[in-house]
Amino acid sequence: MAMRERGVTGAGGPKIVGTLADLRDTVAGYRRAGETLALVPTMGALHAGHIALVQQAQALADRVVVSIFVNPTQFAPTEDFGRYPRTFDDDVAKLAAVGCDLVWEPDAAEMYPPGFSTSMALTGPALGLETDFRPHFFSGVAIVVSKLFLQTGADHALFGEKDYQQLRVVTQMAADLNIPVRVVPGATVREADGLALSSRNRYLSPEERATAPVIHRALTAAADAIRAGTAPDAAMADAGATVTRAGLKVDYMAARNALTLAPLAASGEPVRLLAAAWLGTTRLIDNIGV
Ligand code: PAF
Repeated sequence: MAMRERGVTGAGGPKIVGTLADLRDTVAGYRRAGETLALVPTMGALHAGHIALVQQAQALADRVVVSIFVNPTQFAPTEDFGRYPRTFDDDVAKLAAVGCDLVWEPDAAEMYPPGFSTSMALTGPALGLETDFRPHFFSGVAIVVSKLFLQTGADHALFGEKDYQQLRVVTQMAADLNIPVRVVPGATVREADGLALSSRNRYLSPEERATAPVIHRALTAAADAIRAGTAPDAAMADAGATVTRAGLKVDYMAARNALTLAPLAASGEPVRLLAAAWLGTTRLIDNIGV
């Protein structure tokens, strides 16, 4: 890895490219200089969790590209694509402050030109959990993420563990398609009261924001109970009851194999506890390891 000074940006901050030709040209320049590249895929509305991924990426590669694209194919018509926060100038200022090199900000026509006809069918870690409630979601994520991998040619790609099933699906997809990228997990960044940072937290009213950490508290209590010998399903049933009592509507509260995300079959498997619940009109997800 070539030595570069970090945290110092020119007056203009990161270079911003919006066409595939400009992206490829910029990346080719990095490659000619012998530099490695890490990708942080995002939909913008950047928070400290995204910035931690950028900083993790900077420790792995000479150059870091952040993609900002609110991907229409991962939203159902009933979901929040229209109101998803779009805060581009603020995002670029945050990226400039940490010395990010490049922002890839395609528009929908660049990403999905007229006639685009490819979709992906996923099994394995994509089965159940999110897919039971958002059946369109992972095919949309897999298409856009595989395009981002191929467009940037990144050596590393960083995904937050907060979207744990997405992390597992993308890791499997890259391996299955022999895409030469190393998918790297980043630890979930939390508020002081335990709420996992999410771009959607800004939808919460002050009262909902005060309630929201109950998900993390319930998952933590379940993990403690499992370590103390409680059966995972019983511990997660208690967690679900706690969250429901706080006024949330639970989509799922599940203990799964941490790698395959299959239901637990044998003792001694690595366990991940995953939750999704509605607080008013906001859907929150979270997870922890045991
Ligand atoms: O996690 C997200 O923000 C999105 O699902 C991703 C990975 C950027 C794909 O659109």
